[in-house]
Amino acid sequence: MTLFAMRLDAVRREAEGVCSFELGTVDGAPFPPFAAGAHVDLHLPNGLVRQYSLVGRPGAGSFVIGVKHEPEGRGGSAYLHQHMRVGAAIDVGAPRNNFPLAEDASHVVLVAGGIGVTPLAAMALRLRELRRSFEVHYAVQRRQQAAFLALLAGPELVLHVDEEQGRPLDVAGIVRGAAHDAHLYCCGPGGMLEAFEDAAAARPPAFVHVERFAPARTLRSGDAFTVEFARSAVRLLVAPDQTILSVARGAGIGVPSSCEQGLCGTCETRVLAGRPDHKDSFFTDEEKSGHASSMLICCSRSRDELLVLDL
Ligand code: FES
Repeated sequence: MTLFAMRLDAVRREAEGVCSFELGTVDGAPFPPFAAGAHVDLHLPNGLVRQYSLVGRPGAGSFVIGVKHEPEGRGGSAYLHQHMRVGAAIDVGAPRNNFPLAEDASHVVLVAGGIGVTPLAAMALRLRELRRSFEVHYAVQRRQQAAFLALLAGPELVLHVDEEQGRPLDVAGIVRGAAHDAHLYCCGPGGMLEAFEDAAAARPPAFVHVERFAPARTLRSGDAFTVEFARSAVRLLVAPDQTILSVARGAGIGVPSSCEQGLCGTCETRVLAGRPDHKDSFFTDEEKSGHASSMLICCSRSRDELLVLDL
């Protein structure tokens, strides 16, 4: 995995509980390119690896991420807000894009909830640059929580403040009202994503895009099965409460991983035999249904009693 040595160049308060962190390369090293919708893995000095969407304009010569301070979260945002200071060194993975923008769409509808606005802000900037037709629906509970408004400001922005309107954003209504050939994007809390996906269920999957930073469902254990690590010539049982990743590690087989929640794709592994039971939120449903050649072993399991992996 390629890592870039970067430095924290600036921290800015963007809204209540939200800061942006601007990262630059060290010593003028070349800047990795990225497209709107991309995210990066931050390898925090305390050992955590976390994914954050890039907010700014591709080619701007820096990475900007937006982070909401979540004291009850998994530790990444708390570390960034409480311990990272300007000038600190940080390793950053190459940008990856599981949420690519359809730049030639006839119309794009962006639906953002809270800090989920970050990848959509980058998309809005790009669409404006390309002079494409789009609209942004951005929902926050309170006005003070709305981040990146200066980036988003324009006739395309519809800001929805739950507290002021006395109701949550009508996500289903927005989806229903969108043209049949519009590309629809959503990033936000789980309830918003579910409402969006339900409302868009009848649309062609290629026109409906969601980005998650938490698993779509609790990653449950499943039945036991046997895994064979072909290159290592090892066969082992994966117990109901184990993951393939943990079994591989227990056998001394190194596999790169990051989120360990089926979100980032880092642990993707080639399947040589057997049918994977995809449990992740990384592949689309369409990809999962025809996808037997690789799987994410931090969470996915096996439909067959024996699964053979290229490890
Ligand atoms: Fe992120 Fe497996 S480590 S999907």
